[in-house]
Amino acid sequence: MRETGEEVGEKRVGSVNVYILTLFPQMFSGVLGASILGRAIERGVIRVKLVDIRDFTHDAHKTADDYPYGGGPGMVMKPEPVYEAVDAVKEEIAGSGSQERPCVCLMTPQGEPFCDRAARELAGFSNLVLICGHYEGFDERVRYLADREISIGDYVLTGGEIPAMVVLDAVVRHVPGVLGSEESTRAESFSEGLLEGPQYTRPPEYRGLKVPEILLSGDHEKIRRWRRKQALKRTLERRPDLLDKAALTPEDRELLLEIAWEADTRDDLYPDAPPMGVRRG
Ligand code: ADE
Repeated sequence: MRETGEEVGEKRVGSVNVYILTLFPQMFSGVLGASILGRAIERGVIRVKLVDIRDFTHDAHKTADDYPYGGGPGMVMKPEPVYEAVDAVKEEIAGSGSQERPCVCLMTPQGEPFCDRAARELAGFSNLVLICGHYEGFDERVRYLADREISIGDYVLTGGEIPAMVVLDAVVRHVPGVLGSEESTRAESFSEGLLEGPQYTRPPEYRGLKVPEILLSGDHEKIRRWRRKQALKRTLERRPDLLDKAALTPEDRELLLEIAWEADTRDDLYPDAPPMGVRRG
């Protein structure tokens, strides 16, 4: 097993061990070394272990796949190396003194659609095991290993590695101590069930596009209300399905009424900008 990052001390608040079972551990080197994820690993807030499923094969050719019973195109991942890899990981977790069962997740397009709620739930485990399928699929018995099956979208990728990276990235952002401030997750898209509103930085005007006056006003209450309204408006325009599920306050309902009254539903930040469809060309 290859280990990235170092443990810092005995007890780490909000730490999580992630075991990634894959036939292609080299695919992860970029994401694990850079940005927020890289820093979290370096600081020991999370620990990622890449487990090469091929290390659990027993023949000279390290065969991890085989022809499907009944015929048909493509190859199927064999169950034995995956089972043995999971056994080894579970033994290691038990040996580390952890009382908690790990959550074993299988990456598959047939799984539950991955979302922010799932990311938060997974961030609550001390030990996560992500199994990446490859080839045309895996032997059905591999499913019995999993507590959860996760899909990152309605498309079929060549393997579960990119989905595992997506899950890992979304999960670690919810581990306390990974992001600079707790605030940054709270205000973000989905954490309150809404999309985030527009953000700006300097300069105040660029190529004729101005930062909304209110953001320069210094009136914090007005800015808070404006931001909330923009988040509601954007969600209404782009993902109205999210509004049905969001916990809306009386103020939110008031803002939604205001939005409804403003008859022109076009992006009023830039009244001269072409509508979205035209912008996309
Ligand atoms: N493996 C291949 N495609 C996938 C997807 N969309 N989600 C999760 N795992 C996958």
